[in-house]
Amino acid sequence: MSAKIISIAIQKGGTGKTTTAYALGTGLKKYGMKVLLVDIDPQANLTLGLGHHDSLNTVPKTLYEAIWAVSKEQDYDVKGIIRQTSAGVDLLPSTKHLGASDHELIQVDNRQLVLKSILDQVKEDYDIIIIDTPPKIDNLTINALSASDYYLIPLNAEYFAASGLELLVDTADRVKEHFNPGLECLGVVMNRFNPHKIAMRNMATFAENRLGNLIFQGHIRENVALMEAQMVNQSIFDYMPDSNGAKDFDALTQEVMARLQIPVKTS
Ligand SMILES: Nc1ncnc2c1ncn2[C@@H]1O[C@H](COP(=O)(O)OP(=O)(O)O)[C@@H](O)[C@H]1O
Ligand SMILES: [Mg+2]
Repeated sequence: MSAKIISIAIQKGGTGKTTTAYALGTGLKKYGMKVLLVDIDPQANLTLGLGHHDSLNTVPKTLYEAIWAVSKEQDYDVKGIIRQTSAGVDLLPSTKHLGASDHELIQVDNRQLVLKSILDQVKEDYDIIIIDTPPKIDNLTINALSASDYYLIPLNAEYFAASGLELLVDTADRVKEHFNPGLECLGVVMNRFNPHKIAMRNMATFAENRLGNLIFQGHIRENVALMEAQMVNQSIFDYMPDSNGAKDFDALTQEVMARLQIPVKTS
């Protein structure tokens, strides 16, 4: 096997990137896939949400050390820093030190392709690799897009901003042209959707008209269980399988599988 790699990206905080990476990763695991989650955001919210909070400096290694070594063309055992999580997915963890990588990479030849060589070491071990990216377009986000087959954009339905979306798509087009000819948009998902608000339904219609088939049919509703689950380091499917959050992300998982042409087997 060789993993399909998906970046969850948009250069804005709070739109649901981390929530989507977590729920989609654990959703795909539920359908029998072997999943690696990669946290390349120095805020490390995904790493924390999966229960890997490193409070001491004597902690196991993270993506930061891997990027540092590989960017200096040193041998690095990437498998040695992958952690197993109680959510059943593997994790390539982040740390706040990754904030320095963005700057350190500036001096590196082929700086856009460091994450790609890191993931090349492990992609045969997984069906799917999902990368959670920072809320800006920096060297880390460019590395994520350069290493990916697809990118998926979560938008906050409350303030759908076409301009932010266009900037990300432009960036992805440049990455595709220069570093990664195979990169494709997997789709756009509307998050924090409230079907009872007329303004939001209008917004969804506007987005659908604008984005056509790119927009996923299923929207993710506002659901506090999604926030709670992360606080207790559980996937939404373990924490509250009957919640709207679990239902909506299950539907998104199935749509993603359809777009990736992976048959959905329910056991
Ligand atoms: N559909 C939702 N319903 C309720 N809370 C949500 C939803 N999506 C995200 N959140 C919460 O909003 C905050 C920001 O989401 P997050 O996924 O961290 O965004 P990003 O990674 O894009 O910055 C988090 O506290 C998360 O739990
Ligand atoms: Mg995040």
